[in-house]
Amino acid sequence: MRGFASDNISGVHPAVMNAIQAVNIDHAHPYGDDQYTTKAINHFKSVLKEDIDVLFTFNGTGANVLALSSMAQSFHAVICAECAHINKDECGAPEKFVGCKLFALPSDRGKIRADQLSPLLKHIGFEHHNQPRVISITQPTEFGALYQPHEIREIAEFAKKHHMTLHMDGARIGNACAAMDMGLMEMTGDLGVDVLSFGGTKNGAMYGEAVIFFNRSLAAPAKFIRKQSMQLGSKMRFIAAQFDALLTDDLWLKNADQANQMAQALYERLSDIPCVDVTGTVDTNAVFAIIPSHIIERLQEKTFFYIWDDARSQVRLMTSFDTTMADVEAFAELVRIESQKQEQDQ
Ligand SMILES: Cc1ncc(COP(=O)(O)O)c(C=O)c1O
Repeated sequence: MRGFASDNISGVHPAVMNAIQAVNIDHAHPYGDDQYTTKAINHFKSVLKEDIDVLFTFNGTGANVLALSSMAQSFHAVICAECAHINKDECGAPEKFVGCKLFALPSDRGKIRADQLSPLLKHIGFEHHNQPRVISITQPTEFGALYQPHEIREIAEFAKKHHMTLHMDGARIGNACAAMDMGLMEMTGDLGVDVLSFGGTKNGAMYGEAVIFFNRSLAAPAKFIRKQSMQLGSKMRFIAAQFDALLTDDLWLKNADQANQMAQALYERLSDIPCVDVTGTVDTNAVFAIIPSHIIERLQEKTFFYIWDDARSQVRLMTSFDTTMADVEAFAELVRIESQKQEQDQ
């Protein structure tokens, strides 16, 4: 099966697989006290800066929960977009493990704006209301849209001014950096991000994410929280080695760039098909399109992808590091054939 259901349906990049294989020797200290984990953390430091803390987790939900738990207490609130993964797709894990409220804001394709935040300050200091403490943004958003650097900086400045901190869900941060031709530090810490969930799984890893603390004062409880939230891997070297491989020779950026380019190609091919209406711009590796529902049904008999919005007959198509032009052409051809059949039936 090949398809566009998500960027986690792909396999593992061969260099990552080799890296896992390469550390599968001898015995190593568990829980991250091994040379491979130290090497991967140092690799992050060389790409970002010395003055950070890095903790690996098994998955993205775990990374977000670890980040937010380090940033907020149960009487706080995390401000995010209504469609944010932490709000919609984590089965309430942030609410359960952080124990706090999420203030979910309406957004433009997942992007919230600094000017939406001021009304939330009204009840600061009022003991009957959760206290806004963290702003969480997703870059790129769940719709594949991109925050511009000045938009992130404005949100970070707001956070700082009001004694809040800024979390970035970077499950696909590589796709943002590749699309905007920006370095990781330029896109995150330099803009005022306090804690970043850096995605590996959607970027060619087998599994694993890294939580990066630019604001080290938030990192003190993190290792305890990671253990409590069941995200401390004892055979840590196998997660760490994957990040070492992704950071080597900018593989994380190359993988993301390939996915982005294939999304552009898919967008171009689908735009030529009369019954398909691509919604929004294609900025990274996601294509959202409205396709008549009976055509979706026929397509799904042959290949799997998710319907995003039933009411609008809108689907989400994601590309990944191993998507090829042949995949794109084959899918576009399938859509074209089904749409021609529909025209003939009419
Ligand atoms: C924006 C975003 N954040 C985080 C995640 C991490 O999810 P998981 O817990 O499945 O690794 C995902 C996965 O779809 C995502 O799209």
